[in-house]
Amino acid sequence: MVSGIPLFPEQASTLAPEVDNLYFFVTAVTAFFALLVVVVVLVFAVKYRDRTGEKVGAPIHGSLPLELGWSIIPFFISMAIFAWATLVFFHIVRAPDQTLEVYSTGKRWMWRFQHIDGQAEINELHVPLGRPIRVIFTSEDVLHSLYMPAFRVKADAIPGRYSSIWFTPTQVGEFHLFCAEYCGTRHSGMIGRVVVMEPNEYQAWLSGGGSGMSMAARGEQLFQQLGCVGCHLPDGSGRGPSLLGKYGIQETLATGATVTIDDTYVRESILTPQMKLVAGYGPVMPTFQGLVNEQGVMSLIEYVKSLPRTGGPPAAAQASAAGAPAAAPAQGPR
Ligand code: CUA
Repeated sequence: MVSGIPLFPEQASTLAPEVDNLYFFVTAVTAFFALLVVVVVLVFAVKYRDRTGEKVGAPIHGSLPLELGWSIIPFFISMAIFAWATLVFFHIVRAPDQTLEVYSTGKRWMWRFQHIDGQAEINELHVPLGRPIRVIFTSEDVLHSLYMPAFRVKADAIPGRYSSIWFTPTQVGEFHLFCAEYCGTRHSGMIGRVVVMEPNEYQAWLSGGGSGMSMAARGEQLFQQLGCVGCHLPDGSGRGPSLLGKYGIQETLATGATVTIDDTYVRESILTPQMKLVAGYGPVMPTFQGLVNEQGVMSLIEYVKSLPRTGGPPAAAQASAAGAPAAAPAQGPR
């Protein structure tokens, strides 16, 4: 029904019908009451008009049933909208457990997408049909906003923190990608396309081109180049905590507070390491601000995610073993 109206973008994700149904319901309720008021005003104006020009209106002292009616009915309607919108909101905000993750950075004036397998693209995002995709992104300079209308998802790209959107594409094809936050002279040119492909075509696309080095492998390389490996010993005996199996767990800080080790925490720990020290460790780590860019930080996060819970080779090394010379360097002290 909706796709026939050119006013609306296509419904190309599982979220799209949910968002649209709610939107149409709110519009219908609003239109119904707007029309009701206009029609009643017109009808009464004609029906009760004073032909003589001499009548004085009767005094009105209120009506309890009427007042209760126009309070209680709108109350239930607005509560229904609230409950419905909350369900849709939670669905939009909470990604499923198993998602295909893509990293992105916005900067004046382009979007860069980085696939876990290593492929990078500018102003284009290739994704497979029918799989939940999660885009994790940040900005390298000012506020931007990543907007994909056909999937009904949009979120601000904020310097210094990660945002994410998720969607499951339901249609093969090309869809618009916008920056939806005014970010400077060429804001209007900060656009691109999302290409939704059949899963087998997507696999073919993934294996063609690209650097051949997965993000985690690139992260591992940085981990060694930057010297992280000298302190974050896998057995926990180093000057910094071991990173094995740390992603996603709760950690106690020196202040006694707890923190979940997520993308934002790993990023903070690289760029402002003194801010949230893990209990039992001193403020000895230098900042890596300026030494590693946003893409490097994302690769390091992917590397930390790929580390196993206990010993054994990181998943990164296995995943990138095929055709990735960079995975060859030693695993560091172990
Ligand atoms: Cu980036 Cu507008």
